Amino acid sequence: MKSFKIALIPGDGIGPEVVAEGVKILKAIEEKDPSLSFSFTEFPWGCEYYLDHGTMMDENALDILKDYDAIYLGAVGYPSVPDHISLRDLLIKIRKGFDQYVNLRPIALLHPELTPLKNKKEKDIDMLVIRENSEGEYSGAGEWLFKDQPEEVVLQTGVFSRKGVERIIRYAYEEASKTNRTLTSISKGNALNYSMVFWDQIFEEVGREYPNVETYSYLVDAASLYFVSQPERFEVVVTSNLFGDIVTDISAAITGGLGLATGANINPERNYPSMFEPVHGSAPDIAGKGVANPIAAIWSVSQMLDFFGLEEWGSAVLATIKKIIREETYLTPDLGGIASTQELGNHFVELLMKDN
Ligand code: NAD
Ligand code: IPM
Ligand code: MN
Repeated sequence: MKSFKIALIPGDGIGPEVVAEGVKILKAIEEKDPSLSFSFTEFPWGCEYYLDHGTMMDENALDILKDYDAIYLGAVGYPSVPDHISLRDLLIKIRKGFDQYVNLRPIALLHPELTPLKNKKEKDIDMLVIRENSEGEYSGAGEWLFKDQPEEVVLQTGVFSRKGVERIIRYAYEEASKTNRTLTSISKGNALNYSMVFWDQIFEEVGREYPNVETYSYLVDAASLYFVSQPERFEVVVTSNLFGDIVTDISAAITGGLGLATGANINPERNYPSMFEPVHGSAPDIAGKGVANPIAAIWSVSQMLDFFGLEEWGSAVLATIKKIIREETYLTPDLGGIASTQELGNHFVELLMKDN
């Protein structure tokens, strides 16, 4: 029997709505496969918790979470709490505290009708963005001097350590090499004369160890253009924390929107739990209406299953996502359908159980 302990942090807004559907799928898999057992512990952390307790999570949250095999997170952030508090004290704290330095964001066009781009087919949009997830522009270092005075100055310091940059770039080369794909680095050395010059230098240095990998290096502005005009240029992409955040919203836009975009925050050494979550936020504009698309959150379940070494189930979940999109009858309003979050989730379980 393989057992996995999963910590649930549904969070705010549509977070709980989409996490419930992901959990439904894990429970259905457990029921079908007698060799598997998943246990769930739900934590009430998020903005409401903050309003009641003055902190986003328990003080010893990381100590509590460290004993789990994975964390499944919905979304964090709500207008009731300033975003820099809610996100830095929960999501970013876990990513950093558990050294989840790899953010894996697979991007695939699952149906030609999902892209707003003219003449792009499934084969044109199929890439993996590997985002640095522990430092860079998100280091949180800086200063706010002479607050509210005319000479006020704010410093937001990017931190790019040799260890941090080398390990993410090496991870990306390994991935490209193993899967025989090209590797593209996205940076901005023409303007960021320390951090991104250093990034480019390390991309070249590490590249010497991987002569078999075909590489490209683009400035982030040109890369953003190509994401829209020629996404077929990209196979494996490696980039910094902030650039990775931005280009993966662009990639969501060209593949059907945030309702489909997933991400895994991985600690490759497995010293700490990894965390699986949709790319989207709490979507206050649609929260509580039962119309959020749960597919992004369900895709993160597929990433979690792969990470657990249960690749057959991971692939089965992904195959069901493709099937449900092709069927077109159980889609949420963001994809032009009329199904509710729960109706999509229930139909998903039916399909997955029928096919596996
Ligand atoms: P958002 O991702 O919440 O929403 C952007 C747009 O996409 C909205 O129109 C929303 O309705 C739509 N959308 C998002 N997910 C959807 C889904 N599953 N189905 C259908 N439509 C969906 O981004 P935002 O509005 O910029 O941020 C709202 C809050 O979420 C903020 O507090 C922000 O800081 C936070 N946020 C959190 C995370 C996270 O927890 N990982 C990620 C992004 C933003
Ligand atoms: C994401 C989100 C987060 C990020 C925010 C909420 C801090 O936008 O995961 O893409 O920028 O990493
Ligand atoms: Mn983002």
